[in-house]
Amino acid sequence: MAQARDQWGSRLGFVLAASGSAVGLGNLWKFPYIAWDNHGGAFVLVYLACIMVVGMPVMMSEIIIGRRAQTSPVPAFGELGHPRWAFVGWLGVASGIMILSFYCVIAGWSISSFVQCIKWSVSGYDAPANDAFGIFLAKGPLQLFLTATFMAITAWIVSRGISGGIEKATKILMPVLLGIMILLVLNSVSLSGFGEALRFLFNPDFSEFERHGVLEALGHAFFTLSLGMGAMITYGSYMKKSESITKASAAIVALDTVIALAACVIMYTVIFSFPEMKSQIGRSSVGMLFVTLPQMFYTKMGLGVLLGPVFYILVAFAALSSTISLLEVVVALLVDKLNWTRVKSTAVASGFIFFFSIFCALSLGASSWASTFEFFGTSDTGLGAALNNRFFADKQGFLALFDHFSANWMLPVGGLFITLFAGWVLSRKTSAEELDMVGPDGSTHWIFRTWLFFVRFVAPLGIGWIIVRVIMGEDFS
Ligand code: PFF
Repeated sequence: MAQARDQWGSRLGFVLAASGSAVGLGNLWKFPYIAWDNHGGAFVLVYLACIMVVGMPVMMSEIIIGRRAQTSPVPAFGELGHPRWAFVGWLGVASGIMILSFYCVIAGWSISSFVQCIKWSVSGYDAPANDAFGIFLAKGPLQLFLTATFMAITAWIVSRGISGGIEKATKILMPVLLGIMILLVLNSVSLSGFGEALRFLFNPDFSEFERHGVLEALGHAFFTLSLGMGAMITYGSYMKKSESITKASAAIVALDTVIALAACVIMYTVIFSFPEMKSQIGRSSVGMLFVTLPQMFYTKMGLGVLLGPVFYILVAFAALSSTISLLEVVVALLVDKLNWTRVKSTAVASGFIFFFSIFCALSLGASSWASTFEFFGTSDTGLGAALNNRFFADKQGFLALFDHFSANWMLPVGGLFITLFAGWVLSRKTSAEELDMVGPDGSTHWIFRTWLFFVRFVAPLGIGWIIVRVIMGEDFS
């Protein structure tokens, strides 16, 4: 039995919290580096198509399901459909656990970047050695400490409930984040690499596009919008009936996309303006947000001394509003299903997830076993090697494996079932009512009919087609 629901306090509460969930490390850290690894243009175009064709309709579907059911995903599917659909909710919980366990590790880096910036601002900038970031990653105890700190802050906020601090915090933080991003983009315009950065981002060259790119673009569309695992179902369950799901979804999707592209413009401009940056990024582009950007603050921007520390606080907050939503999915389940108190649920869930974080935190060089771990064994030949290639794109180490598998497989598969549920199990009447798109005579709005066509046919066929082709080993280039 669902208990009395907490609700977002203000009219904007849902949009702010849901954008807070969507805008995070996915936009600032992950998108710039995967778009870089996938050679820009063509990947960006495929990604934008995924956002429009799949992201927006699934976003609306999740919110409809949550607000209608007024409960967390596992019971929601049962209540609106049939208990056998509860597995979609469970899949989401598993994705949430997997994502949060590595997300906290990366979020922890923002704390150390902040501290580093403060040091530089106070006692002057001294350029880090080329391998400084790698050395930092391999410091096991430090990684564990940063991860634990981030997890503890997340748990503390989640334990305090929905309408408390987070809503107020996002109200201030989101505009400030946007303001700083605009400042950084304006600064980029004055640098020599700006034009090349735009060309890299927006000039598609499909000859460089690789098979995994299309799944990665789809997976990232889910990841960046917090879709496919029930986060938006959970947040939607706290949403007031008077708010428009369509408008809220459009606002979240637009904001998320603009911030991701702006992050790329800022970082690529630095890379193209200063050739030595390219060698810094070197083998791994993972550290872009934490390696490329600080250098720009302190060497190329007058106001960098001030903006540097502020920027990393914002990165930390952007990450925090996302980790909160990840943990909330698991906590809401324990509260709704087992009737545990919020505090107990939060303590148990965060402790359990931190256990997996330990493996991720040590997989960046601290433990060679954890850093080279491959799910199907480390042999270069045979079935194991083939499966490692197909499902994990040959990635190694817990953090990279969790990241790749959750975003590229679990979220799209979860999203596939969510669209099928919204399109075929939920009645037309229910979804049209939630979207507030039925006229007095029972006729529906064209936006509703378009949405229904997308969730019934376009999105499931698109997701299914990509998944099947990647499993079959097709090359998309
Ligand atoms: N959307 C977040 C980001 O882009 O950083 C990550 C995320 C948060 C994924 C919440 C899934 C989720 F449920």
